[in-house]
Amino acid sequence: MPQGDLFQSENGHPDTPPKARQHYLQLQTDLHNHNRRYYLHDSPSIPDAEYDRLMQELLLIEQAHPEWITENSPSQRIGAAPLSAFVMVQHEVPMRSLANAFSSDDMHAFDRRIRERLDTEAPLEYVCELKFDGIAVSLLYKNGLLVRGSTRGDGSQGEDITANLRTVRAIPLQLSRKDYPAVLEVRGEVFMPKAGFEKLNQCALAKQEKLFVNPRNAAAGSLRQLDSSITAQRPLDFFIYGVGWVEGEFLPTTQVGILNQLGEWGLPVNPEIAVVQGVEACLNYYDQLEKKRASLSYEIDGIVYKVNRLELQHALGFVARSPRWAVARKFPAQEEMTELLDVEFQVGRTGAVTPVARLVPVFVGGVTVSNATLHNMDEVQRLDVRVGDTVIVRRAGDVIPQIVQVVLERRPSNARLIQMPLHCPVCGSPVERAETESVARCSGGLICAAQRKEAIKHFAARRAMYIDGLGDKLVDQLVDGGLVQALPDIYSLELEALSALERMGEKSARNLLVAIEKSKHTTLARFLFGLGVREVGEATAQALAQYFGSLDALAQANQAQLRLVPDVGPVVACFIAKFFADPRNIDVVSALQAAGVQWPDVAVQPLNKPLAGKNYVLTGAMDTMDRNTAKDHLLALGAKVAGSVSVKTHVVIAGSEAGTKRTKAEQLGVPVWDEAQLLALLKEYGQI
Ligand code: IVH
Repeated sequence: MPQGDLFQSENGHPDTPPKARQHYLQLQTDLHNHNRRYYLHDSPSIPDAEYDRLMQELLLIEQAHPEWITENSPSQRIGAAPLSAFVMVQHEVPMRSLANAFSSDDMHAFDRRIRERLDTEAPLEYVCELKFDGIAVSLLYKNGLLVRGSTRGDGSQGEDITANLRTVRAIPLQLSRKDYPAVLEVRGEVFMPKAGFEKLNQCALAKQEKLFVNPRNAAAGSLRQLDSSITAQRPLDFFIYGVGWVEGEFLPTTQVGILNQLGEWGLPVNPEIAVVQGVEACLNYYDQLEKKRASLSYEIDGIVYKVNRLELQHALGFVARSPRWAVARKFPAQEEMTELLDVEFQVGRTGAVTPVARLVPVFVGGVTVSNATLHNMDEVQRLDVRVGDTVIVRRAGDVIPQIVQVVLERRPSNARLIQMPLHCPVCGSPVERAETESVARCSGGLICAAQRKEAIKHFAARRAMYIDGLGDKLVDQLVDGGLVQALPDIYSLELEALSALERMGEKSARNLLVAIEKSKHTTLARFLFGLGVREVGEATAQALAQYFGSLDALAQANQAQLRLVPDVGPVVACFIAKFFADPRNIDVVSALQAAGVQWPDVAVQPLNKPLAGKNYVLTGAMDTMDRNTAKDHLLALGAKVAGSVSVKTHVVIAGSEAGTKRTKAEQLGVPVWDEAQLLALLKEYGQI
């Protein structure tokens, strides 16, 4: 439909289109409501794509009728024209900060202090709120409309970031209901949820851009954009925690009453808030939330306790820049500074050589950390980290500790560059790095003790052969002591030698031998997984076992056949084929079987062989592949490939210079295909 028609009024007069305008206003209301449901109640009533469509429709209408656009249209979140600098704004009521408490003793002292001031023995009522790890902002609503948003700044003056804050969907552009005061200035925290942060950094990594260190920095960086259309693309969220300046009727008598009232006007209140009696209950709340912290979708760095009754808050007043009636109990920090003492290179099961940072031990995220992975040399380069540097270590939840940043100002003049060794630190074999990979690998294979140790640990693991008692430390002892060189040696271990090992009594040695014996009766899937073929995890091992039924069938499969197994792509197929093409691996497998390792063959699942029962004949030369490759592809699809043409032949595929076979086919009325038809068939079934 041409756009003009959309806005034609019933009487055909283009200037007064009441219906179209009504529709536009309805769209505005609908989008406001969807926003509210999504951000306030966690219950979107429409899928995101539908939301996007409605927004798109609104934008189209606004393009045609810019004169209709109001400041509080949902479209105004998308971003206004770029600014050259932020304007400063004065906070009518200063935005103060909170005093900190770091222990339960500090909390008891806080509670005692204020009860003394209030001259009361009775337990006080506190509101427990989360301390959101984001950026404090002030939002000014006049007659229910958001007219200004600013940062905290130095507490008395902040920056006007209205255009950016308008893009945060959790911030209402207009308050709901009608009973709000004429002027209402509220405060809260803008933050970036953990998942959004991860995604943003993944994108930045892919584009080789600078990464954000943590979600708070990412939120701050996003709000500091002069071009609000960039802010609009960032996954920001918001919770409200208090009021500043109010003109007009505002009646709550408690902090929780304030929050409830703000919630009713459409400002997002965090659902974890609790009202408790006395300091012990505050400590309980802290313990509960500390446990819950990792499972929250956003970061918090502590709990804020506020005296609930406003009358008592007024009586207590302020000291320096902080209220006497509130305190922030901080969780142990998730980021700390320490020094990088050295970088060592560890060799894994597949030979991957990983740089590991040795650190001056530091208490971070609730544990003492003295090592952190540096992943690979790309990461070392990205961080520009050197031995001797002061670094920021981060440990959030159960995530392994990471170095997130170097404190460049503290770099000593003798800081040493980190270089990948040319030779494996364990076996001395050359270290190689494929051009397409970020990982460097020791080329020593099973010559390398580190790789052997890891291979044995993997083989013995619970999910593989499950040799109970053959743990990491014992494997190190066995390999270092020369008792086990390769996997089959596990099955010739003897009681005497085992009992003689350090920290191993005769009883444990006997138990271990029983476990080794037991492991001989296994399944094909466990055995395959235990062999540690690169990229073959548990699920792939299962799929291979089910598809091929026996080890022999699998070992003989070519890459084309392997790729018919669900989830086996070209890379995995290549690793499997290479593994079974190496006689050293075949020897290991045979030796294990000779030692008594066995499994029942698996009932083969109905195969995915679309050409089963079809007979093909290949003749002549082809341009894109040789005849053997073509044959492998056809075999992989279940076809039979014969050398001569007969009445049983279904198709003859004739390349150039095809001779008698082509003539014979024509005589017998057998279809003759050219190379292009074959390629189309192979393509259809995913062979090429
Ligand atoms: S109340 C006068 N409540 O913590 C009290 N602050 O050091 C003002 N924050 O800049 C703050 N969550 O960015 C309050 N539930 C919460 C908070 C919170 C995070 C931040 C806020 C402020 C800083 C105070």
